[in-house]
Amino acid sequence: MANHKHFSAVLNVLKATIVLLLQCTKIRSVVGVSLATQTAGRWKLLMNNTGVIAMHMALTHYDTVVIFDQTSAGPSGYRLRRRFGGKICTTSPADMVDPNCYAHSVEYDISKNQVRALQISSDTWCSSGSILSNGTLLQTGGYGSGARRIRNFRPCKDHHCNWSESNKLLSNARWYATTIVLPEHDRLFVVGGKRAFNYEFVPKMGKEKSYDLPFLHRTFNSREGGNNLYPFVHLSSDGNLFIFANRDSILFNYRRNKVVKTFPRIPGGGGRNYPATGSSVMLPLDHRNKFQVVEVMVCGGSATGAYRAARRGQFMKGLRSCGRMVITGNRHKWNMENMPEPRLLHDMLILPTGNILIINGAKTGCAGWGNARNASLRPYLYKPKNQLNRRFSILRSTKIARMYHSSAIVLTDGRILIAGGNTNKNYTYINVPYPTELRLQAYHPHYTESKHNNQRPRNVTIHYARGDYGIKYGGEFRVRFKLGRRRKEDAIEFNIYSPPFATHSFSMNQRLVKLRRKIMAREGNGEWMSAIVEGPPSANVAPAGYYLFTVVYGGIPSVSRWIRIIHS
Ligand SMILES: *[C@@H]1O[C@H](CO)[C@@H](O)[C@H](O)[C@H]1NC(C)=O
Ligand SMILES: *[C@@H]1O[C@H](CO)[C@@H](O)[C@H](O)[C@H]1NC(C)=O
Ligand SMILES: *[C@@H]1O[C@H](CO)[C@@H](O)[C@H](O)[C@H]1NC(C)=O
Ligand SMILES: *[C@@H]1O[C@H](CO)[C@@H](O)[C@H](O)[C@H]1NC(C)=O
Ligand SMILES: *[C@@H]1O[C@H](CO)[C@@H](O)[C@H](O)[C@H]1NC(C)=O
Ligand SMILES: *[C@@H]1O[C@H](CO)[C@@H](O)[C@H](O)[C@H]1NC(C)=O
Repeated sequence: MANHKHFSAVLNVLKATIVLLLQCTKIRSVVGVSLATQTAGRWKLLMNNTGVIAMHMALTHYDTVVIFDQTSAGPSGYRLRRRFGGKICTTSPADMVDPNCYAHSVEYDISKNQVRALQISSDTWCSSGSILSNGTLLQTGGYGSGARRIRNFRPCKDHHCNWSESNKLLSNARWYATTIVLPEHDRLFVVGGKRAFNYEFVPKMGKEKSYDLPFLHRTFNSREGGNNLYPFVHLSSDGNLFIFANRDSILFNYRRNKVVKTFPRIPGGGGRNYPATGSSVMLPLDHRNKFQVVEVMVCGGSATGAYRAARRGQFMKGLRSCGRMVITGNRHKWNMENMPEPRLLHDMLILPTGNILIINGAKTGCAGWGNARNASLRPYLYKPKNQLNRRFSILRSTKIARMYHSSAIVLTDGRILIAGGNTNKNYTYINVPYPTELRLQAYHPHYTESKHNNQRPRNVTIHYARGDYGIKYGGEFRVRFKLGRRRKEDAIEFNIYSPPFATHSFSMNQRLVKLRRKIMAREGNGEWMSAIVEGPPSANVAPAGYYLFTVVYGGIPSVSRWIRIIHS
């Protein structure tokens, strides 16, 4: 009897094992590897209503996010009890449509998951910005009376801060321009915009005005709505600017107003900049080549004729191709590869691991109100160091379309914050194919999962040299963190990331720099490690400012810490 019982128990275990094995092989053979990646990561709805469309978004070093839209879109989703001037907003028909009774900018507090209204006075529609070395967001241009405006947002601890308008103006009206931080202390380069084929500096030296940039005249395609607005600009480690517009690109010495290199045209046809709206990143800079090899990447965009077709209600398939090109050295060629599907209006973000996330966007049409269809719901992960054809994988999809006027940013804990999306004039929630999107989401990449916790560097602290409040160029700093024993120390990386200003699918000033460690040692027999890390050698490699510092072990990042790089 007892024997029989034992036998049937063994039999049951065997049966269960066989069923399990069969199921596993079935899953493997039917869906293969793709199942594993297409369920990678997790989406979480954070808020149903951020109040304003996240046309523009930037992370501050107080772990808040500044979000703003245009001021001329009428009532937003955030109604104020009182106007900023103090007068009560009543329910009278006039007050219900008065734009001053609505917020057009908010500050999102990440830890509290709340927004508060910010006052923004002039129209920031399709504008640009950069974060200065002291953490102040300097924001440039916009529309109408806001087109030449310069605004500041000084983030602060008690979250009472607010936008302020500078009494200085830009030399030119800049609507759809790009702004980038230069290596010189807090000097910005503002380039392009509608009918602005030139660039200027903020702040100016002496009587400086704007400078004509023939490259922008040349790349302007009027039949396609421009296709060279919001140019992609990256600061190369040689101190020159890489400027990409439409399909062409140059290396530009802004100190001498001189084109240093003209690169070959990117293959693949169509256009890459607004309204064709692909995206671009500079791949991580690496101490292993002394930061001397700089490679840029451009992905997606719209087909030739997409702008005119969209005006007629036809939505052409977007571009599938990406190009990578090394812009340093003296041989330049675009190396082309394809994304899993056509894509435009997407954001390209550098993850703390150095891989690239492609998120948001659409498959057909182009930028502009009502001009795109077929939302891209599945993010891609791109591993730049993998072999060709093994770089892209498809991640878990979302149900929320994020096309024109949406944005995405990397947060301190490695999540991605996703907001916005509006393909309509004003805030429109009914009777349109894509209603105005005010929900706020986070995408949690696979590396945030708790199953990686035993591999994750923890309790990271940064220790500057005595008496310093940041790292000077060429200086070093000490890092302490915890990591389980018996680890391969070669697999540890120390990365810094500059939080960008995101708008219109381009993250201005986004860069990731892989720093060199000089010494690393375990403290005793425990889990604590201590390392001496070399800061960036110059402002060309990393302009001064607040960066996110991350310790990465075998592809699993720590929570990032704010680190400050200062001019000596
Ligand atoms: C959003 O709204 C839905 C439907 O009303 C509700 O079920 C959900 O809990 C809300 N989510 C958040 C994060 O507020
Ligand atoms: C959008 O809002 C503005 C400002 O309130 C208003 O003047 C305009 O008529 C609105 N446009 C549409 C299409 O509703
Ligand atoms: C940062 O610098 C800018 C430009 O010098 C200045 O306007 C701003 O007030 C400063 N912000 C802080 C927080 O000191
Ligand atoms: C924001 O600052 C402006 C001055 O720049 C001030 O008039 C306004 O009352 C402030 N608003 C809030 C909400 O603090
Ligand atoms: C876009 O959506 C339409 C309608 O669902 C579909 O017929 C078409 O194949 C889609 N195009 C692409 C490129 O996905
Ligand atoms: C380390 O971090 C964990 C959270 O990840 C925290 O609970 C713990 O208190 C920290 N330990 C030390 C020594 O700072």
